[in-house]
Amino acid sequence: MTTTPDTRPENRVLIFDTTLRDGEQSPGATMTHAEKLEIAELLDEMGVDIIEAGFPIASEGDFKAVSEIARQSKQATICGLARANYKDIDRCWEAVKQARSPRIHTFIGTSPLHRAIPNLSQDEMAQRIHDTVTHARNLCDNVQWSPMDATRTEWDYLARVVEIAIKAGATTINIPDTVGYTAPVESADLIRRLIAEVPGADEIIFATHCHNDLGMATANSLAAVEGGARQIECTINGLGERAGNTALEEVVMALKVRHDIMPWDTGVDTRRIMNISRRVATVSGFPVQFNKAIVGKNAFAHESGIHQDGMLKNAETFEIMRPEDVGLAGTSLPLGKHSGRAALRAKLKDLGFEMAENQLNDTFVRFKELADRKKEVYDDDLIALVRQNEAVS
Ligand code: KIV
Ligand code: ZN
Repeated sequence: MTTTPDTRPENRVLIFDTTLRDGEQSPGATMTHAEKLEIAELLDEMGVDIIEAGFPIASEGDFKAVSEIARQSKQATICGLARANYKDIDRCWEAVKQARSPRIHTFIGTSPLHRAIPNLSQDEMAQRIHDTVTHARNLCDNVQWSPMDATRTEWDYLARVVEIAIKAGATTINIPDTVGYTAPVESADLIRRLIAEVPGADEIIFATHCHNDLGMATANSLAAVEGGARQIECTINGLGERAGNTALEEVVMALKVRHDIMPWDTGVDTRRIMNISRRVATVSGFPVQFNKAIVGKNAFAHESGIHQDGMLKNAETFEIMRPEDVGLAGTSLPLGKHSGRAALRAKLKDLGFEMAENQLNDTFVRFKELADRKKEVYDDDLIALVRQNEAVS
């Protein structure tokens, strides 16, 4: 079986979305069949390169969802997860094979802690990797292999099994930081060293798969790209087990905004980010924290007087990206006790009230009194304030 040559440019980083597999593994984040199909369609439309649609052997429902997503996908490669045994791999292939572009992703835990679970010696595990990757490759010409807990696997053993997987036909080698243990400098070095030292490494794509236990998943993923990885595994809103996975919106926007120092492109239409973020939050039942980068309610909101004044004069004073670029209508300047006269004037003008300086001063005093009692002052509150002012004057 031959592999299709990859004609993508050198500076292209593939986005592998695992919201429907690793994201859904988050306790309580289960999605219905219809919801999974909807999210897969949104991912496909936004331009992710690979969708990991589920773990076909895990349940009949997962199998059906992966199969249907495989049939419906228009652009993305559809991938399913399989443990390192023939039964899992066969089931995975059954589910993904109808995709325009199918991929089998098979994995095994290679660190000492994980080797102890199936109680395999290093040699026995190496043989298992050889046999299962060969089996997967006989079914599909697009095979991804992952040494789970790679970042806590001894270097010599990791290099040995990566070489075995490449020789057995893996086309992508994913290096998971399964427990979010690594740090950016190590993340870059590990990929760089694998590419430099493992025979055959320059023939395949290295992927990075980071978890966020120490809050470093985005930094570790970008560092891995710096080290030579050309596929980032991530989820919408960073959904995933424990503290989650690398957030798609963060890596994609970081590569866009800091293209000057990270000159890698993705194929993602960033204007679709907010919509899919909201849909994933709704269907998974995991709300997005207010101050979450890119997609949080406050990510493009400014309350303090100094910031609002700056924003009204020039949006670049306090925003490094345009809200429209992530699919928002615009910046929001919520009025609260930290807000100043300039924002109040602008808001009143929006509401149709043009007032003289002395009137504005009176309204501002009353607004501050109210803002001390209320977290946020809404449009209706302001209208009532103006009406009261009109009544007493
Ligand atoms: O975190 C992890 O190691 C995984 C593997 C299955 C790739 O999700
Ligand atoms: Zn994971």
